[in-house]
Amino acid sequence: MKRARLQTRIMPPETHQDLRPENLYDHLDRVLIDAETLRARIAEMGTAITTDFKGLPLTVVTILQGGAVFMADLIREIHLPMKLESISVASYHGGTESSGTVTFHQNRLPDLNGRHVLVMDDILDSGRTLDAILRRFRDECSPLSLRSCVLLSKKIDRAVPIEATYSGFDIENEFVVGYGLDYDGEYRNLPVIGVLKPEWIRS
Ligand code: IMP
Ligand code: MG
Repeated sequence: MKRARLQTRIMPPETHQDLRPENLYDHLDRVLIDAETLRARIAEMGTAITTDFKGLPLTVVTILQGGAVFMADLIREIHLPMKLESISVASYHGGTESSGTVTFHQNRLPDLNGRHVLVMDDILDSGRTLDAILRRFRDECSPLSLRSCVLLSKKIDRAVPIEATYSGFDIENEFVVGYGLDYDGEYRNLPVIGVLKPEWIRS
């Protein structure tokens, strides 16, 4: 029997053009935080976390999808044994304004019994997401301690009075994308934090 051969075709340059990641940068009005600045700050955060959690049974819980890119880089700067968990929630439902409700996408919460827990998210905005998650963990999961870590923190009056234990950068109150943060599910793979051009925001 003849097996079909998988073809790896070299695409003509004009097709390549559409796939170049640089094209995502064309959607940006400006870059707010470049890749090198992100890397350097995340290394500092990793050092602080390594010092603070030394000798403790650590579980990192990432808030998906937004926290995934940050978590992947930050945990490699934490030089301690740890377990990794994730939780999936949504609070934006597609737009550029928080909807005000936090929807948990799974019923099963991670097993945090007897663990010191560090919850990681991309950004602290109204505070509702982090607050809802920390409350559920505290009430339902019996952790030994609960701390939180965000890459970005918007300088606003929060709907819920909460600050993260570790925060990478304080930013103004504007909608940002990249490095895990999305607009309507896209731009998470952009290696920088940026502000979209208005024409890319569907009204
Ligand atoms: P909060 O519940 O209002 O604090 O919002 C937190 C969540 O909203 C984050 O986990 C993000 O997923 C999302 N979010 C808040 N601000 C932005 C933004 O500027 N760009 C993209 N997502 C954002
Ligand atoms: Mg999020």
